[in-house]
Formats: sequence, structure tokens, C-alpha cells
Amino acid sequence: MVEEQSGSKSERASGQASEPIRSPVGTRDVLWPESERWETLVATFARRARLAGYGLLLTPVLEDVRLFRRGIGDESEVVGKEMYELTDRSGRALALRPEGTAPVVRAFVQHHPPVPWKVWYVTPAFRYERPQAGRYRQHHQVGVEALGTEDPGLDVEVISLAAGFYDELGLTRVDLSVNSMGCAEDRPKYVVALREYLNEHRDMLCDEHRESFGRNPLRVLDCKRPQCIAVTEKAPKMVDFLDEPCAAHLAQVREGLDALGIGHRLEPRLVRGLDYYTRTTFEFAALALESAQNAIGGGGRYDGLSEAIGGPPTPGIGFGIGIERLLLACDAEGCFAPEPSAPDVFVIDVTGGGVARDLCAQLRDAGLSAQRAYDNRSLNAQMKVADRTRARFAAIVGARELDEGTVTLRALHEGTETSVRREELIDRLRKEVGP
Ligand code: HAM
Repeated sequence: MVEEQSGSKSERASGQASEPIRSPVGTRDVLWPESERWETLVATFARRARLAGYGLLLTPVLEDVRLFRRGIGDESEVVGKEMYELTDRSGRALALRPEGTAPVVRAFVQHHPPVPWKVWYVTPAFRYERPQAGRYRQHHQVGVEALGTEDPGLDVEVISLAAGFYDELGLTRVDLSVNSMGCAEDRPKYVVALREYLNEHRDMLCDEHRESFGRNPLRVLDCKRPQCIAVTEKAPKMVDFLDEPCAAHLAQVREGLDALGIGHRLEPRLVRGLDYYTRTTFEFAALALESAQNAIGGGGRYDGLSEAIGGPPTPGIGFGIGIERLLLACDAEGCFAPEPSAPDVFVIDVTGGGVARDLCAQLRDAGLSAQRAYDNRSLNAQMKVADRTRARFAAIVGARELDEGTVTLRALHEGTETSVRREELIDRLRKEVGP
């Protein structure tokens, strides 16, 4: 993995022709074979999502900046401090998406598909954060969103989809915390009680929240600084303020998780960083990672988000999973390390390259993976490249094979060779490498 961390010269790059241009700070290139691991991860997620009835949704990386201001909230760090905003050449105020949920709800409002509307996505997300291991300015998420019902059974389905995905990758040390953020009826009462409590303890809060807790006291529950953590440990809890329908909803979600054997704990301070949440919130933490950056996925309900962006009242729930962090967690647990693929056959042509061109085209059309060397290199040089690819077979064509219309098929791991007629090569390889 090739990574730009922080403070590198590239941030100050002045356009001098001699200095190579690098990727922006906090962004990364993902090269093969690591990229093949990403491919497998996304394919695994896509398969699980499809099995549960979620269809792929693609939305633009650029959105009207008002979508995030209204949808996520100006007071949130993600919008207030981290969003990449730009004005295009026609003067439109746009933002690079900092997350995947608001765009999905915007698409729902715009296209009014029948409900329940269940979608999955894979997307880059942009946040101007201080880059460090597990925290980037462009990260990537796979996620789902499901709109149109408040049924707690949907909350359970969504959470179990994420849990099953972590399981399939082989992660075992994953902690699931669950909370309820209540609704428009009960939350205001809680916010008043929390504000009062924080006011009583304001001198003990971190510098930032001592000043700002009055505007949105819930943010303090999310603060990772030890001073705020110490204060909020004894703060009033949202779960104690839930009205009857919200309390019953949370109980049903927890019962459903228990019924499916999904271990979880109630975390009354889990508010998450985006202001659209109502009722169920949840977060998955990888215990094998440092606690500051160990959230490998999170989500919740956002029953007021559609209205907040001008749509019809429509409940919804979903989650986003950070791909980079998830892979760090897999590394830390030593799981999900799929072997990068190797070609079925490497065509070695020392007669000028025309045979390699034709054979590769035929083999690929027949569904076999075939590679070749270029630039008319020597037999030895081509064999070296073939070895590097870990191909199962080399199909070698020299002057003799060209005359006879054959290829020499060498099993590269065993070192055995046979002569095969060109027109029989595909059948022969199919038998050897399977369907
Ligand atoms: P989020 O918790 O902000 O939620 O992000 C989801 C996941 O993305 C995090 O759990 C983490 O794994 C990863 N992540 C976030 N920021 C970074 C970063 N700077 N670098 C690396 N990874 C990061 C959302 O974005 C919501 N849209 C989730 C959701 C979906 N809620 C309802 N539906």
C-alpha cells in the first residue's frame, strides 16, 4: 500500500517541473495485489447484500452542499469542520460526499421508488481529518440503506447483515454496541437534562466542549478526550428518557439480535457523529485495533432525514463499513488474506509475438486467464515473467512448434512438458484447470 501521511512536500508542491507529483495528503493508492483483496471484499459484501434483497445504487460523488448541511447537520464535525466544499465554474455550491446515507435518501426523494427500498453501495467518502493510520481524507465504505418502514425487524436484518459479513471475513474480535437516540418527542427532554448536567460539570469538560456544549450537548457524549469521558460516565442516559414506543422499539431490536445469536451490549453514550440519527444506533469496534480508530462500521435509523431534505416522511436505517479500517482489523487478526489470483496459462512466443496475440485472444474468449510477454524477448526472459505471475502452465511456441502447429505445454509447478496441437489447447487446459 502506498500512502501519503501528512506534512509531506507534496502538500506544498509548487508546480516545479522536476518534482514528481504525489497523491494528496491523506489519500492512498491501492495497488495490486492489495486491490484484488478489495475486489474480493466488495464481491463478498455484494453477494450478502443481494441475498438479503438489496440492489446496487450508484449516486454522484458531488452533491449540492445543502444536502449535507440540512441532512447531517451544520453542528456535526463532519459537515462543520471536515467537508470538502467547492464552487463549480457556474457558481454552484457543491460538496464531495463525506458519507453515503444523505445521497441515498436524496435519490429516494428524487426518484420515489416503491418501499421498502433496499440498496447497497460502495463509495469513496471525503473528510478533511488529520491523517493517521486508519483515518484518511478519502476513505471508502460499503454500506446499505433501507427506507420505508419502522419495523424493528428491519433494524435486526440490517445489523445482522453487517455482523454476518464480518464473520465471513473471519473476524472474531468484534464488539457490537447498540443504543437508541429516541425520537422528536422524547429527545428534547433528554437534551435539556443533559445540558443541565453538563452545565453543572462544565469546568471539567475539555476546552472545546466547555465552550460549545450548550449548542449541541449530544456532541460531548461522542468526545474521545479523557476529561469529557470522565464527565459523561455519570451523565443522564437517553435510554432512561425514551417514550413508550421508542423503548418498545429498542427492546424488540435487542430481542431480535438475541434470537439470531448476535452478541451486543447497550452503550448509552453511543450517539455517533451525524445528527440525523433517531432511535436505533449501533457501532462495530474491532478489538484488535487501537481504540481511537477501531470503529469498523456503524449506522442507525434516520426517520426524519427524508423530511429534513424536503422529502416525504419516510423512516430509514442503514450502516457504513470503512473498508480500509476493516482490512486493518483483518491484518491485526490475521484473517481474510486471500491468495492473489494467478493466470491459468502464460503464452511464451519466441517467433515474433503473433502467435501469443492470437492464442491469448482465443484463450480469454474461452474463459481461461492468459497472459503473455511483450517486446519479443528471449525465451529465458519470458520464462522469468511467467514464473513471476505464478501461472499454472506455460504454452511455449518456438520455431518448431510454429512449423508443426503445436505448443509445448509446461506445468510450471511440476516442471513436466507435453506437446499439444494448437486447436486442442483450449480443451486440454479446460480439463487441467477445471471449469
Ligand atoms: P460513520 O461512522 O461516519 O458513518 O462512517 C462509517 C465507517 O467509515 C466508520 O465506522 C469507519 O469504519 C469508516 N470511516 C469513517 N471516517 C473514516 C476516515 N476518516 N478514515 C477511514 N475510515 C473512516 C457514516 O458514514 C454513516 N453514513 C453510516 C450510516 C449509514 N448510518 C446510517 N446509514
